[in-house]
Amino acid sequence: MQVKLSDSPKEMNHAIEQAKKQQSISISEFFTKNRHLLGFDNPLKAISTTIKEGVDNSLDACEESNILPEIIVEIKPTTKDRFIVSIEDNGPGIIKEQVPKIFGKLLYGSKFHKLSQTRGQQGIGISAAALYGQLTTGKPIKVISRIGEHKPARSYELHLDTKTNEPEITKDIETEWTRNHGTRVAIEMEGKYHRGKRSVAEYIKYTAVANPHAKLTLIEPDGSKIEYQRATNQLPVKAKEIKPHPDGIELGILIDMLKGTSSRTLQSFLTTEFSRIGSKTAKQICGEANLYPNARPSRIAKNEADNLLQALRNTKFIAPQTDCLSPIGEDLLERSLKKEFDADFFKAVTRTASVYRGNPFKVEAAIAYGGSLEKDSPAEIIRFANRVPLQYQKSACGITQSISKTNWKQYGLQQSGSNLPNGPVVIVVHMSSVWVPFTSESKEAIAHYPEIIKELKLAVQECGRDLGKYLRKQGKEKDEAKKLSYLEKYVPVIGEALNEILGNVNEEEITRNLKDTLERSRK
Ligand SMILES: Nc1ncnc2c1ncn2[C@@H]1O[C@H](COP(=O)(O)OP(=O)(O)OP(=O)(O)O)[C@@H](O)[C@H]1O
Ligand SMILES: [Mg+2]
Repeated sequence: MQVKLSDSPKEMNHAIEQAKKQQSISISEFFTKNRHLLGFDNPLKAISTTIKEGVDNSLDACEESNILPEIIVEIKPTTKDRFIVSIEDNGPGIIKEQVPKIFGKLLYGSKFHKLSQTRGQQGIGISAAALYGQLTTGKPIKVISRIGEHKPARSYELHLDTKTNEPEITKDIETEWTRNHGTRVAIEMEGKYHRGKRSVAEYIKYTAVANPHAKLTLIEPDGSKIEYQRATNQLPVKAKEIKPHPDGIELGILIDMLKGTSSRTLQSFLTTEFSRIGSKTAKQICGEANLYPNARPSRIAKNEADNLLQALRNTKFIAPQTDCLSPIGEDLLERSLKKEFDADFFKAVTRTASVYRGNPFKVEAAIAYGGSLEKDSPAEIIRFANRVPLQYQKSACGITQSISKTNWKQYGLQQSGSNLPNGPVVIVVHMSSVWVPFTSESKEAIAHYPEIIKELKLAVQECGRDLGKYLRKQGKEKDEAKKLSYLEKYVPVIGEALNEILGNVNEEEITRNLKDTLERSRK
């Protein structure tokens, strides 16, 4: 007789033994082991990731409260390989109850469930930096926050319990602070500070380019201070929050939405939980899905939800509204590039909005060329997502790929194969969206959705075409100038020769006339 494996007592013992080892894993434990996923894989990156997370939060908080951002970043050495990294802002501040959760709990934030353009998305950024600091130095994270002139500032010290993913408050007192409102977070961590490519200074400079309304100060470990003044006193137009667009919605999400809605009928569920569905369209969708418009959303069975999804997919909706996006704008992008780069040619383009998986997005691109930009090196690529500079994983990013797959030779630049173009050129690309699809939680590279790649390419090509025109014109002018200077050299000789052949010719007059003619052709 054959014994089924699963019935064997030995196998059952294995299963029981295994069951003893099986347990849930807290998010903090997971990221303690996988901190590279959050951008903390080496000491150099640890400092810049911390600053990026802090500055992103400060900018988001200021803009949400209509405050012109004023941010100070300081990196203070404590030992050879340890630094206190602090980020201070003049934002709205954070109320007492929220401080521990924001800085001492992973996956806690205000932006994850919201569809509008913000720099942060996941609710992980600053607490991950705190976790890294705690892991490498054992020191608590220090926060000062004040929510208004008439409230005292409070000073906190926090630990993150990795087993429970809950904060532990070790200090919470009133304190003196010069600012009327704002937040200052300081994290001691193991790290390395460097200058040059992919440095903190570069990150701050690029942040100034994409955020011309922000005043940024960087104090480096040796005390040197770098300041970026505002290029405008106007805050960017505030991005509005939108409901999901029905295009590209997935079944699982639809089922969750049906369960979670407070709408009492299917028709009102469709009109209130989605953008771009009016009551007439909602009725038609219900009809096509064979469902009653006044059916209770929570009673919709899985197969009915499937029919509903098909009906949604068969309906043509108006494109999503774009007031949920806050692009930099052609004018400002060009202006801030001019402020930071010494070049002869500038061009910026903002494309109209597009959609991927129901998420609206816009691509902007800009090019600076010539001047004192480095001549014999690959183009400098500056990538932005929701106004945040992306410094790592360059080659994995959809932006870089779109640039290197563009044929730059047709625009007058040198390029070998599918590499980046060469020459004195800076190419800036900004993608803004209600949800930027990053390739990992560290938010360093944009994923390759075909709709996004298409827009990225179109944006850089538009700038490329103008650069091509400029370079061709410049080439022509150079050619002409060369020819003219050549002719100029021979004008006196021609005058002399004519005099010799014809005799009795006013050599000086001929030379003058010929020079005049050449001068006129130059104009
Ligand atoms: N300086 C600040 N001023 C006011 N509120 C802040 C500040 N920093 C963080 N917050 C609040 O704390 C929340 C959590 O911040 P955190 O950086 O962890 O996540 P996030 O910004 O929402 O998303 P991401 O993980 O993508 O950065 C934010 O959503 C915001 O509501
Ligand atoms: Mg954040």
